[in-house]
Amino acid sequence: AAAAGGIVKPLPPELFISHGTNAEMRWEAMRRQGYLTPADRFFVRNHTATPLIDARTWSLKLWGTGLRGRPTEDSPVELTYEDLLDLPSETLTASIECTGNGRGFFASQQGQEASGTPWKLGAVGVARWHGVRLSTVLRRAGITREAVDIMPRGLDADYVDKGENLGRVRRPLPVAKAMKDVLLAYRMNGAPLPADHGHPVRLVVPSWVGIASVKWLGDIQVADEPLFSPWNTRFYRLFGPAYPPDGSAPLTRMNVKSAFELPWEAELPAARPLALRGRSWSGGGRILRVEVSADGGATWRPARLRDRHPDPRGWARWEFGWQPSRPGPYELLARATDETGATQPATVPFNRLGYLFGAVVRHPVTVI
Ligand code: MTE
Repeated sequence: AAAAGGIVKPLPPELFISHGTNAEMRWEAMRRQGYLTPADRFFVRNHTATPLIDARTWSLKLWGTGLRGRPTEDSPVELTYEDLLDLPSETLTASIECTGNGRGFFASQQGQEASGTPWKLGAVGVARWHGVRLSTVLRRAGITREAVDIMPRGLDADYVDKGENLGRVRRPLPVAKAMKDVLLAYRMNGAPLPADHGHPVRLVVPSWVGIASVKWLGDIQVADEPLFSPWNTRFYRLFGPAYPPDGSAPLTRMNVKSAFELPWEAELPAARPLALRGRSWSGGGRILRVEVSADGGATWRPARLRDRHPDPRGWARWEFGWQPSRPGPYELLARATDETGATQPATVPFNRLGYLFGAVVRHPVTVI
């Protein structure tokens, strides 16, 4: 049964910006939060609507030519929710970020509009996920040495793109990544996974594009040959003048980004020194350095990292002391560098679907 409005949890307008079937976290909502994004503030990205699934009747089906005995879709290897709870489990702190996070800035900062949800920077969150390693389940199901790709598929409704039915959300994942650090999560921040975030079980694919973290997981095809779906051919590649005609290779890791924990177009008091706060994160690993500019990028000063050893799969919180010299409008810029040396450029090449906007974002504020 699909929920009427598409999203089940309440979306108070002071915490979320609504984008149809999707809901973006307002960054000011993180200002008084700890390291993690609470589940009730976590962004939601739904291709259709949140399905309500009963864990007691749910099972995970595994099938395909990459499993011993080559079980078919009609007679798969099955695991119930109870079976999953009996397997060794672990906890993982990781971000999930929409590949299009920041998409709106292609238009507002670079003058070229990309198609898709015009997110600002709130299509990201960090949570503590608990569940069973995907590698444990794949081994138990009899994955063979010949397996190359798996295809997890959600139980939400078929996705219809411009009148064309593309079937259920599914995206191939290379076996090397699937066996490395992917979790079949059934808890989020210490509570059962909420409906909007994939109840009863979702994938959490650390550091990778959000689409890889399939929610409401129903089945996994395991194949001894490469797999394809619209989610690795038509979507989640870069298309545009800077890329080959068929697009880039399918996107894997996310890039470096930073956000201020401030309302968009915030009004800030001039009278006292301001402690600006924000967070930076990267699919490339740990954030090493964050710099802030309050003069449109002419000069930069280092921000102080509040997390000494930020989780490489989460984010780094930072603080920047600023005493504005006069009232009026300002643009605040934050630029992070991760452990691979990747940093945020001033602009990025355009791509039509608006993925991976990793350029420095110009955050407008007014000092009053
Ligand atoms: N899984 C299914 N089954 N259906 C979806 O629509 N959206 C994907 C991914 N998994 C999606 C899905 C996308 S594009 C993202 S960014 C993340 O889920 C969002 O996870 P969240 O809604 O828990 O924040």
